[in-house]
Amino acid sequence: MNPIIAPSLLSSDFANLEKEIKMLNKSQADWLHLDIMDGHFVPNITFGMPVIRAIKKVAQKPLDVHLMIEKPERYIADFKNAGADCLSVHWEACTHLHRTIHQIKDLDMLAGVAINPHTPVAFLEDIIKDVDFVVVMSVNPGFGGQRFIMNSYKRIKELVELIEKHEAEAMIEIDGGVDLDNAQLLIDSGVDILVAGNTVFGSENPMETIAKLKKMIY
Ligand code: DX5
Ligand code: ZN
Repeated sequence: MNPIIAPSLLSSDFANLEKEIKMLNKSQADWLHLDIMDGHFVPNITFGMPVIRAIKKVAQKPLDVHLMIEKPERYIADFKNAGADCLSVHWEACTHLHRTIHQIKDLDMLAGVAINPHTPVAFLEDIIKDVDFVVVMSVNPGFGGQRFIMNSYKRIKELVELIEKHEAEAMIEIDGGVDLDNAQLLIDSGVDILVAGNTVFGSENPMETIAKLKKMIY
């Protein structure tokens, strides 16, 4: 099987978003990864509902919206209405994670939980059967183009074991520092979804880079 490829628009040319999205429509990308940052949960601010709505008008692929915001439960329906198909919230930002995950699923979106590089994978023990995917952050969230944290391999292994132990069906998404050199090893380790920002949009031929990522096989 081939992985799901989710290019992150964070590294795209925001002055030419329509052009970038049309390129992704034509490419082998499966999902479009949108990073929402609030300047509180992470030390950066990106964009919100109006921009997602605009992206939705052009995009022909599912929108994978990654919320790096505090109290995300306040906005679940708003993100659905803006066009999100997959919605992930951070474990560290949710006091009532179980409720929030089910709010997302009740609105017919795929529900994901994201964990920061220092959050023990074991903390997912009692939520793993409820989520559709886990976002393993392989950089500290907030910025594109950061270096991959090597300890993430150990965390992916722990997560694969946790999923097997519970006979859960959660997919594993890796986010941060994914490139053409580590992608195959990540897939071999059990990753289902590759997010890539800088690797795709910083390359000379983004469509070709996406095709190369897509070609990697389990
Ligand atoms: C980081 C974001 C990532 C980011 C990945 O906080 O969650 O999605 O865009 O960018 P790269 O692939 O450049 O590390
Ligand atoms: Zn992200």
